[in-house]
Amino acid sequence: MTQSTTNTPSFPPPQDEGSVTISYKGTTATLPVLSGTNGSSVIDIRNLQKDMGLFTFDPGLGTTASCESKITFIDGDKGVLLYRGYPITQLAEQSTFPEVAYLLLYGNLPTRHEYNEFVTRLEEKSLLHEQIRNFFNGFRRDAHPMAILCGTVAGLSGFYPEGTDTSNETSRDISAIHLIAKLPTLAAWAYKYSRGEPFVYPRADYSYSENFLNMLFARPDTPYKINPIYSRALDRILILHADHEQNASTSTVRLTGSTGAHPFACIAAGIASLWGPAHGGANEAVLKMLHSIGRKENIPDFIAKVKDKNSDVRLMGFGHRVYKNFDPRAKIMKKTCDEVLQELGIENDPLLELAVELEKYALEDEYFVQRKLYPNVDFYSGIIFKAMGIPESMFTALFAVARTVGWVSQWKEAFNDPLRRIYRPRQLYTGPEERDLKSSKQW
Ligand code: SDX
Repeated sequence: MTQSTTNTPSFPPPQDEGSVTISYKGTTATLPVLSGTNGSSVIDIRNLQKDMGLFTFDPGLGTTASCESKITFIDGDKGVLLYRGYPITQLAEQSTFPEVAYLLLYGNLPTRHEYNEFVTRLEEKSLLHEQIRNFFNGFRRDAHPMAILCGTVAGLSGFYPEGTDTSNETSRDISAIHLIAKLPTLAAWAYKYSRGEPFVYPRADYSYSENFLNMLFARPDTPYKINPIYSRALDRILILHADHEQNASTSTVRLTGSTGAHPFACIAAGIASLWGPAHGGANEAVLKMLHSIGRKENIPDFIAKVKDKNSDVRLMGFGHRVYKNFDPRAKIMKKTCDEVLQELGIENDPLLELAVELEKYALEDEYFVQRKLYPNVDFYSGIIFKAMGIPESMFTALFAVARTVGWVSQWKEAFNDPLRRIYRPRQLYTGPEERDLKSSKQW
């Protein structure tokens, strides 16, 4: 079954909302202003170079809309996150990860029949070709799981060629299902490989999150009993990490997809981008930071280092390019953290206590208040993962499992964009004028 795009909801195109006039050295141009459903309107600068010979300059693309999208919306000032219009707070409490995946992919919540069909499709594609096991043997046992994911995901294209034809929706949908279904298996096998334990296969009688936990922790010698507290917490954490507008890794996937590269290469590029400590690698970096601080008494010295511009030390898990208020995911993550630890009877988790103290200290410090730096999704996630027995090296891999849904949804959306063209930013060149080689040679 491939999801027909006919029932993907259609929404009004960007509305013309007047224009801005720009004058420079005697030339004047009128640029249209377009508005969407929510958020800032945009100045359409596509004709700026033709009309005025000018580029725009926006390092880090902090104020540049790179595309039109109908999938996710963030109001950074209000701390609001919507997936296809539904608040993340409602989805985290009332939905399941497969249902959210369907919503992000196809734009509507599934009927019960569509949900069951979708879950079955994911389960049927969760197995890996047996030869893919050989990929792992090429890595050292201590290879970072993200290194293994980067390498194996791109290699999937050799086993599932039916998903590499980007020219039609059916093939794109097939590859999307392959990727969402196989990422947990690959990530879990990367963990098993690092421990020298046998790989565990997905099971049809387990949910997406139950399967992931079972593939991570089941062993042939002892039966592994799924803890519903863990599976529910994991499902919610996957929902929180599923998509997030045009973040660095999603932009990487869109840019790679704009060249016509097949989806396995695009998602491998997204995984590589997510790995950075300023992005998806922050959850692992937060734990390392908490371990380095050690105890509450050391917080003032640590914060002093963070505020010292020469120290290059950052408060990991804090700050965000878009949120200038609490990241709504951080609040849900903290609540989930409290629930998991309480239900597990962990009264006083020292790492959590240290994190809470660190958050409190920072939120009372003018440096953070003035810069509107609040906890983001990564600040508490590592503490839950650790409580669930997931090792630090797997935190970002878990993020990648969840974000694969957003990546493939955004990658698919780009194909239906009438403005689709290869990403090719320009630059402000400040290098040398043309010069002659022969007269410049030093020998
Ligand atoms: C994710 O984009 C997304 O949506 C990402 C994400 C997603 O779901 O895809 O939400 C996931 O990546 C969350 C962010 C995880 N990263 C971290 O927690 C790493 C720590 N955070 C920072 O590195 C930083 O806040 C970023 C990278 C998240 C945002 O960087 P920006 O927007 O480029 O902010 P900036 O560097 O311009 O900072 C503005 C000021 C600077 O100080 P001044 O030059 O004004 O004096 O705030 C300071 C920065 O030095 N600052 C921090 C800080 N973050 C910003 N100072 C100390 N600690 C921090 N964490």
